Amino acid sequence: MITGEKISEVKAVSKKRMRKKPLNEVKMVLPSHSMNESYARAACAVFVSQINPTITEISDIKCAVSEAVTNCIVHGYRDSIGLIYINMRLYENREFRVEIKDKGCGIQNINEAMQPLFTTDRENERSGMGFTIMENFMDTLKVTSSGCGTKIVMTKKLAPLSEMRA
Ligand SMILES: Nc1ncnc2c1ncn2[C@@H]1O[C@H](COP(=O)(O)OP(=O)(O)OP(=O)(O)O)[C@@H](O)[C@H]1O
Ligand SMILES: [Mg+2]
Repeated sequence: MITGEKISEVKAVSKKRMRKKPLNEVKMVLPSHSMNESYARAACAVFVSQINPTITEISDIKCAVSEAVTNCIVHGYRDSIGLIYINMRLYENREFRVEIKDKGCGIQNINEAMQPLFTTDRENERSGMGFTIMENFMDTLKVTSSGCGTKIVMTKKLAPLSEMRA
């Protein structure tokens, strides 16, 4: 007889099997100094270069990463310095995945924050376009947040190598 316990065990095993194994994975922890925005952007570009992206793909990824890291620095931690956690992965199907996380103030209303032109920082002439840029330059964008910080997960599937390189 298959018990409820057995069913949850089987479900847990199949969920684990379904999780894709990355070809490569790199984790970084950076203090939220503004100079580390360019470091994070360049590190992502170097990491993704391992699978021969096009120039456009690299520049899209750099732009999206730069927006996400800047948000951790200027909104998440504001006038304080905290840590930014970055996890980059490359998969066999040429998918790039990046997770960017802070333990700052969090976002109260994610739907509102993701609207184009919405900003809580008019004083510093921010345009409220960061999330829109991330959404447009990457294939998927997932934002989760609480009073303990914010996590952004973005993915982008790179074109097959056989296609015309830009
Ligand atoms: N990591 C974060 N922690 C706390 N709040 C955030 C974070 N990321 C975004 N936000 C909130 O979401 C709003 C919208 O972010 P978005 O990046 O789209 O625009 P912006 O940063 O205000 O302006 P821009 O990116 O154009 O300079 C921000 O104004 C801020 O209130
Ligand atoms: Mg922004």
